[in-house]
Amino acid sequence: MKLRKAVIIAAGRGTRFLPVTRSQPKEMLPLVDRPVLQYAVDEALDSGIDQVVMVTARGKPGIEDYFDRSFELEVFLKQKGDTERLRQAQELSRKVNVCYVRQKEQLGLGHAIATARDVVGEEPFAVILPDDIIDSEVPTMRRMAEIYEKYKVGVVAVERVGDEDTRKYGIIEPKEVADGVYEVLGLVEKPESAQAPSRLGIVGRYIFTPEIFDAIDDTPPGQGGEIQITDAMQRLLGKQKLYAYELEGVRHDTGTPLGWLKANIAYALKREDIGPELRDYLKKLK
Ligand code: G1P
Repeated sequence: MKLRKAVIIAAGRGTRFLPVTRSQPKEMLPLVDRPVLQYAVDEALDSGIDQVVMVTARGKPGIEDYFDRSFELEVFLKQKGDTERLRQAQELSRKVNVCYVRQKEQLGLGHAIATARDVVGEEPFAVILPDDIIDSEVPTMRRMAEIYEKYKVGVVAVERVGDEDTRKYGIIEPKEVADGVYEVLGLVEKPESAQAPSRLGIVGRYIFTPEIFDAIDDTPPGQGGEIQITDAMQRLLGKQKLYAYELEGVRHDTGTPLGWLKANIAYALKREDIGPELRDYLKKLK
């Protein structure tokens, strides 16, 4: 079955980004002039996915309004004669079909994904963690969808991480099957480097078959007392193969102030309208 749905997880507390996340969802922080969340939605659309299931939580204002139609804004821009901005505003709400589910208790990533079960139904689906923004020529999810089409099993994106960083990621035990494509033989959530089966860390892009939901149901709390998707994937390995795609391009972790700042600079420097001036400004900084 073709991949049509993406579950985007926007339910985290954003503790690494306090205090701004006291009243502002981290997913709505801007990357230059668009919220981080929009990059995740755009990657899904650019990968041939047309339905987005957004998992949100209490205290996440603004997300639903952002992807909704804003008549007031459209009337205002029309009266002003700002046709370009009017076109952009209309296009944003037209091109994406989003539905929302709420994670009522924050019991882990596996649990957050499981809250989308009824809306996803019996079909394959993508999962995108919007903190991870990937700047690449071909969208990462598009590449992963191609691998899914070929093997019809789950796919996860990975990236090489340093020894000191294995404890920040799910780490896979890989068997290379093609250039940059691996069969996953095992997974461990956030191991110390000595226990890590490789240096290939999972980044926030997954494709699952619906069997993952039963695997999540059977998964007890793991690392950090949370229901980990990595453990559910490990559980499913007994029944179904899993592949990993080593991403091309640059990944930014926008979930921390430093990662978010770096991503803003990288994206702003690429913009024709503001990039050159920003470059001059950065050169002049002491
Ligand atoms: C989650 C996953 C982890 C993965 C990471 C990617 O961790 O549990 O396996 O490597 O996302 O961003 P988190 O960053 O939510 O702690």
